[in-house]
Amino acid sequence: MHVKPLIAGAGLAAVALVVLSPSAARAAPTRYEAESSPAVCTGTIDANWAGFSGSGFCNATNATGAASQFSVSSSAAGSATVGVRYANGTTTTRPANIIVNGSTVTSSTFGGTGAWTTWATTTLTVNLNAGSNTIRLSPTTANGLANIDFIEVTTGGTEPPQPPQTGLVGWATQGGGTTGGGGNPPVTVTSSSALSSALSSGSAAVIRVSGTISCSGMLRVASNKTVLGNSGATISGCGFNISEASNVIVRNLTFRGWDDDAINVQYSTRVWIDHNSFTSGYDGAVDIKRASDYVTVSWNRFFSHDKTMLLGHSDDNAAEDRGRLRVTYHHNWFDGTGQRHPRVRFGNPVHVFNNFYGGVGDYGVASTLEAGVLVEGNYFENTDSPCELGQGSSPPANLVQRNNHFVSSGTCAASGTVRSIPYSYTLTAASSVKSVVTSGAGAGRISV
Ligand code: GCU
Ligand code: CA
Repeated sequence: MHVKPLIAGAGLAAVALVVLSPSAARAAPTRYEAESSPAVCTGTIDANWAGFSGSGFCNATNATGAASQFSVSSSAAGSATVGVRYANGTTTTRPANIIVNGSTVTSSTFGGTGAWTTWATTTLTVNLNAGSNTIRLSPTTANGLANIDFIEVTTGGTEPPQPPQTGLVGWATQGGGTTGGGGNPPVTVTSSSALSSALSSGSAAVIRVSGTISCSGMLRVASNKTVLGNSGATISGCGFNISEASNVIVRNLTFRGWDDDAINVQYSTRVWIDHNSFTSGYDGAVDIKRASDYVTVSWNRFFSHDKTMLLGHSDDNAAEDRGRLRVTYHHNWFDGTGQRHPRVRFGNPVHVFNNFYGGVGDYGVASTLEAGVLVEGNYFENTDSPCELGQGSSPPANLVQRNNHFVSSGTCAASGTVRSIPYSYTLTAASSVKSVVTSGAGAGRISV
């Protein structure tokens, strides 16, 4: 189920929403305001942009090294989570070194937030000494630092972070939410014919798939379905066509060797595709198109496959797709796949966060044709082209990248602004995403 060419780009409104760090069993965070001594601001304390906490924020002089510095106390030595609240009303990143007790320990990009009144939080993990510490945010370009509101520090010695959320997050929580077959008693299917009739039934249902089901083509999925794989459940040879449906959940299945798409979502809303594995198929693994909306694609693993996730199938489908195609992609593992992670047309905001791109061959994310994509907190390894603007015949569109982690990879191309994210979510620290995702993504990693 396929692609092709056409027109224009658009610049749209502002980004951001507060992002929390994974901590739980640790102590409550302590907030340190940038305007309160002993914090130091190499610039002025201003209060002209709304939305800050306390009595103001640090507007550091626009120069390399003009810093915002905090004094932080920790009851024990060990790792700490530091949330930095900032605003950058420009479209240029304002990268800064994070200097703890005189040593540069990491850096952060402080990308554009869309407006000086739009505050965002980036989360870092650093080691602190017992007792007093300094944390200095020191810009590395002549544009200087973003405006800094506060930092929030959670100390807890060496306690590991809590596992990230595995429930439903993102766009599929919107528009009424996604509950699938709800509390209906499950029916178990073991054959292609039983699966096909259960999926297309007009009633709400919870369908459990057992064993390997050999099939071909696309099986139509109707509204109000939860499809759950028992341990090892595999769909071999065919795919699911979620078409003119709403409220569908697909979890814990392995799709292999599909002869069209593994999952195609069209004219459908409120869909959650979670903890599945996709390998060695023909066309798209998870393609979403034709006026679809409110979709979350989470914790899936894709391997031995090229065309991974298309969002919006053609350049000339504005009438159906403009204002729709809002999808969240999080904690997915792109394990040596080729292209489209995702390739986006029209959708804004599309949210791509905390995914692990390991050895992605062609490109990671592409924002094209009026789209607005927020690429946040992902881990890119051995991936030459993490983000591209435009693709094939589709013109470049908007992409905001922030807090991504790059290892032996290229950079993430960014341009313009994207609309704000309406839901809350927990951001895994980007540097932890590889370990969190490789141990949690794919079929067989949850019990359903
Ligand atoms: C503007 C804005 C400041 C900001 C500055 C900058 O002057 O009002 O709050 O710090 O731009 O570019 O750094
Ligand atoms: Ca400034």
